[in-house]
Amino acid sequence: MPNYFRDYMTRTGDRMILKMDHYLDIYPRLLGHLQHRDLRFLEIGIYKGGSMPMWQGYFGPGAHLVFADIDPACRDLALPGTHVEIGDQADPAFLRDLVAGHGPFDLILDDGGHKTDQQITSFRHLFPHLRPGGIYVVEDTHTSYWPGFDGGYGKRSFIGYTKWLIDRMHSWYTDEDEIFPFHPLAREIGEIRFFDSIVAITREPHGMPTALSSRNGQVKRSQAMMRARNRRSIF
Ligand SMILES: C[S@@+](CC[C@H](N)C(=O)[O-])C[C@H]1O[C@@H](n2cnc3c(N)ncnc32)[C@H](O)[C@@H]1O
Repeated sequence: MPNYFRDYMTRTGDRMILKMDHYLDIYPRLLGHLQHRDLRFLEIGIYKGGSMPMWQGYFGPGAHLVFADIDPACRDLALPGTHVEIGDQADPAFLRDLVAGHGPFDLILDDGGHKTDQQITSFRHLFPHLRPGGIYVVEDTHTSYWPGFDGGYGKRSFIGYTKWLIDRMHSWYTDEDEIFPFHPLAREIGEIRFFDSIVAITREPHGMPTALSSRNGQVKRSQAMMRARNRRSIF
């Protein structure tokens, strides 16, 4: 089956691009439905600008493509039809400016500094500014295990934060208010996908999930069944 990204690697220009091999198979699975739409895309981390023409070719001319980096030298790497913004992904003021200037986004890809605080701060400030159905992708999450990136097994890390997100996503279903209160992210997170070194979190605003039963073709919906407070699950 043809793979745009594998093909692209064989026809790069003088802008160096560095990716893990298996990302090239993950991208089409994760992002295929976003091709050739008028999407708004933000990538954090430019380096030599190698990914810019790759994304431009993949998403097509209708896409609004924004690239951000802390290094002012990256300003010169803007391609026609792209936007380059210079700032620190761990600076809330910069993130607010990105949203004000270019949001809301359909896809945000964090391939920036890969340190815990950078990744978490960017996510916390940008995730609410994804359009419904939009995807937040964090790349190279193996750095969560690397001391040089503030990581390490059991340490505070972005992967650790995603485990916290899994709990918040399920915070409807608890009566342990003291230690595990309801969190509004339960209304926002639709999906969390884990790949080796990539986490993708989809924003899907929604109300309390509904249980559905059907007998003799009669469909009934109930949220009462899902209210876990002071009762056992029916499942
Ligand atoms: C892995 S490279 C990006 C590679 C690029 N996405 C590609 O695929 O070719 C990481 C980039 O993140 C930038 N960076 C590091 N810390 C940052 C920060 N705090 N805010 C924004 N960008 C940062 C670096 O300057 C570097 O250019």
